[in-house]
Formats: sequence, C-alpha cells, structure tokens
Amino acid sequence: MREDIEKILFTAEQIAERVHEIGKQISIDYAGKDLLLICVLRGSVLFTADLMRSITIPVKMDSIAVSSYGNATSSSGAVRLLKDLDENIEGVHILIIEDIVDTGLTLDYLISILEQRDPASVKLCALLDKVERRLNDIKPDYCGFVVPNEFVVGYGMDYAEHYRQIPYIGVLKAEIYK
Ligand code: PRP
Repeated sequence: MREDIEKILFTAEQIAERVHEIGKQISIDYAGKDLLLICVLRGSVLFTADLMRSITIPVKMDSIAVSSYGNATSSSGAVRLLKDLDENIEGVHILIIEDIVDTGLTLDYLISILEQRDPASVKLCALLDKVERRLNDIKPDYCGFVVPNEFVVGYGMDYAEHYRQIPYIGVLKAEIYK
C-alpha cells in the first residue's frame, strides 16, 4: 500500500468481482437492444474498460467530459461540459458510466443535457455511491458499492490528477489534501 493511503476500501480482486457481476446484469437487462456506454472522463476510464469486458452483448462506447471539482476536494456545484459525445444518441439506449456519485450535481446536469437529445432511455451505472453526500434524488440504476464520506482515490479516481493508476480503491490520508 502506498504511504499516502490511509486504508484500502476495496481490493483489485473485490472490484473485479463486483464489476463482473454488474456486467452480467447489464448483459441480461439490455439483451436485444442497441446500447451505448458513455464513459464520463476521466475518472471512469478504468471502470468502463473493465465493465465493457464483462458485458457479453454487443455495445458501443463514447465518452463525455465535464468538470465540477477542479483540484478541490469537494464539489463546487458548477458543472461545465468540456467534451461532448461524438455519437448521435437519438433513439439509442444510453448507460452513463461513473466512477462515483457524490452530491449528484454532475449527474443531474449530464442526464438533463442527454435527455434533451431524445435517447430511447438513460440509465446510470456508478461504481461507488457516496449516498450521504447527495443533494438531489439521483440514484444509480447499477451500483458497485455504497461508500462512506471519505476521500477515495484509485481505480481511476484522483486527487489533483494523481493516484488514478492505483489498482485498488483507498482512502487518502487527510494530511495529503488538507
Ligand atoms: C467526479 C466523478 C463525477 C463527479 C461526482 O468527477 O467522476 O463525475 O465527480 O461528483 P458530484 O456527484 O458531487 O457531482 P471529477 O470532477 O472528480 O472529475 P474526474 O472524473 O476527471 O476525476
């Protein structure tokens, strides 16, 4: 374990097992449908890559980038679209892939702009759900783990762009970000 990690919340093995279960469920739920996975950059890159490989039905993948945090450790509440989708999503079933839902403000914004484009459906798949921080009624349709209100990094998630490469999910020592 890296010295700036307080504790491990989920090992690489635990993550792989849960991601595989979610992939199996998605494959059942969307069988026979055109499904587009939307990777929300950048934190969801690892989750999306692993989830895709656990999905056994044909899927397409696109990405979108929004910014809400900057280098701060809590949501500023202001969401900006940094990179739009490349695909036309009209009539397509879309599944937004997120590493973590915190306040829910990012997802509220994302869902509202995507719904304006008349997709067949919009659902949310989040690896982590920090339920106690929610400021709205956003709820993932697929959720890996509910997590406490701690600063989590690894498996794609960062602090000031570091730690994304760590294969497990850990809690960052407070002295690093305070
Ligand atoms: C994280 C995460 C969500 C958002 C959730 O992204 O990937 O998009 O924060 O927070 P909210 O529920 O409070 O809106 P972040 O802004 O850290 O960007 P990143 O994915 O590039 O790391």
